[in-house]
Amino acid sequence: MEHKGFTLWFTGLACSGKTVLADAVAEDLKKRGMKVERLDGDIVRESLTSDLGFSEEDRNENIKRVTFVAKLLSRNGVAVLASFISPYNKIRAYSRNEIDDYILVYVKCPIKVCEQRDVKGMYAKARAGEIKNFTGIDHPFEEPNHADIIVETDKQSVEESKQIILNALEKMGYLL
Ligand code: ADX
Repeated sequence: MEHKGFTLWFTGLACSGKTVLADAVAEDLKKRGMKVERLDGDIVRESLTSDLGFSEEDRNENIKRVTFVAKLLSRNGVAVLASFISPYNKIRAYSRNEIDDYILVYVKCPIKVCEQRDVKGMYAKARAGEIKNFTGIDHPFEEPNHADIIVETDKQSVEESKQIILNALEKMGYLL
């Protein structure tokens, strides 16, 4: 039997753990013989959406373009793992509506913890006013109102969060 494609969409603050977790799930799915593709904000913003910034309008355009790609891939049997802050419920609803098999993962982590991690030093820059419109500092992050899966990265290890996601996919019938 062929694997069914889907898009697993990770939303959450910067440094919440979206990328690490999506990479971990991707490796697992590859081992199961699935065709897997990763779409990640930091990478996509260097190519497909390199003309865009971080205003509400630009973020929405970023997500719209990525949604288009994810839709094409997932309807052709690919497991797409998309990791974007995607801070608004309205644009998340847009993606859900566009992509047939869309699963939203909320990578939940208090901003205090994200800020302590500050992997790229961006929170410090945002606090110093060197970066404007930074999510969670001077730009909103709406908690998802329709998350299919919630993981809490301040309480769980990467392995634990990964397992929660795989168990949910299994229950939904996406793993053969
Ligand atoms: S989204 O809001 O449009 O979904 P996306 O996930 O693509 O954002 O990009 C977020 C990444 O861009 C962060 O990981 C961070 O490295 C970088 N970045 C640069 N400026 C900002 C900003 N003002 N707010 C959030 N992230 C920013």
